[in-house]
Amino acid sequence: CRFSYFCFVFFLFPLSFFLFPLCFVCFCSVFLIAGVFLSCSPFGLPRPPVCACNKCLMEHDQWLSERTKESPEPFLSPTNNISEDTFNWWKYDRRNFAFYNKIVDKVFQIFPTKVNFTRSSPDLCRTCAVVGNSGNLNGSHYGPLIDFHDIVIRINRAPTKGFERDVGNKTTYHVMYPNSFRNLDNTTHLLFFPFKIYDLQWLIRFFTQRIDSDYDMLLSKNSTFFNSFMKYVHQIWLKQKGRYPSTGFITLVLSLHMCDEVSVFGFGADKNGNWNHYYEPLRNKRLRTGQHPGKLEYQFIVKLHEQQKINFFRGW
Ligand code: C5P
Repeated sequence: CRFSYFCFVFFLFPLSFFLFPLCFVCFCSVFLIAGVFLSCSPFGLPRPPVCACNKCLMEHDQWLSERTKESPEPFLSPTNNISEDTFNWWKYDRRNFAFYNKIVDKVFQIFPTKVNFTRSSPDLCRTCAVVGNSGNLNGSHYGPLIDFHDIVIRINRAPTKGFERDVGNKTTYHVMYPNSFRNLDNTTHLLFFPFKIYDLQWLIRFFTQRIDSDYDMLLSKNSTFFNSFMKYVHQIWLKQKGRYPSTGFITLVLSLHMCDEVSVFGFGADKNGNWNHYYEPLRNKRLRTGQHPGKLEYQFIVKLHEQQKINFFRGW
């Protein structure tokens, strides 16, 4: 009994003065480190910033992170090809997965595999303008505002010459597929979107037959491909409505992965529900939104805007 008393007074009691604070410090450090490295927020501690903008797109947004969690890696590469399942969903002809893979191999024998976009970082604020081709851009005077963004993404034909006041003239990424292909200047990255095997074959033919400097430039550094995204956008975002998503809507969803702040311009049908273009008069008065669920896509854009996830500029 005397021995226990001696132990308590001279050993355990003073030790507890050191042990309790030590445990407390260790406990807090573990949670702080978890907060920094895993972006979790134990006990409501402030999370580390995802980007350097005032408000980062992916920060604290459960709805958006749940959707993006299901996304495949958007860009095609030799190590990131689509699965056979996605291929079967994507394919338009009878040629099989083995054939598709052969073509993809050929593509990557010609094109470099690096992906040309900056990943998110706590000291970067990547502001993006996604510019569709709607006629509502006419008379909008959005040009300077569009060009003010770090990254401007345009889709398909999207001419800027002669339309600078309303659409700007900067293009960082140009999303295209064979039917809408046009020359790009050397400040623009190509985002090539193959809808079918033929599109990849077209690309190989196109670039192996031309050797002038413009094409050398595209071959050397500026091309990126994506196709796995289409199924994801159709199934997860649009719940399989419409035949397939529009290139513009797929690009918008892609921008949520590439940017910290997204502003959207040039989306929306005319008063008769047709997808008109700012650069030409409407030719087919019964066009509507083609095979795409245009109304639903538009509702999504409005919803994202109302929830303050993106800025949507509706034009006039
Ligand atoms: O018509 P085009 O495919 O060239 O336009 C690019 C994208 O802009 C479309 O895929 C669509 O998402 C969007 N668009 C729109 N409203 C229009 C015209 C185009 O939302 N009137």
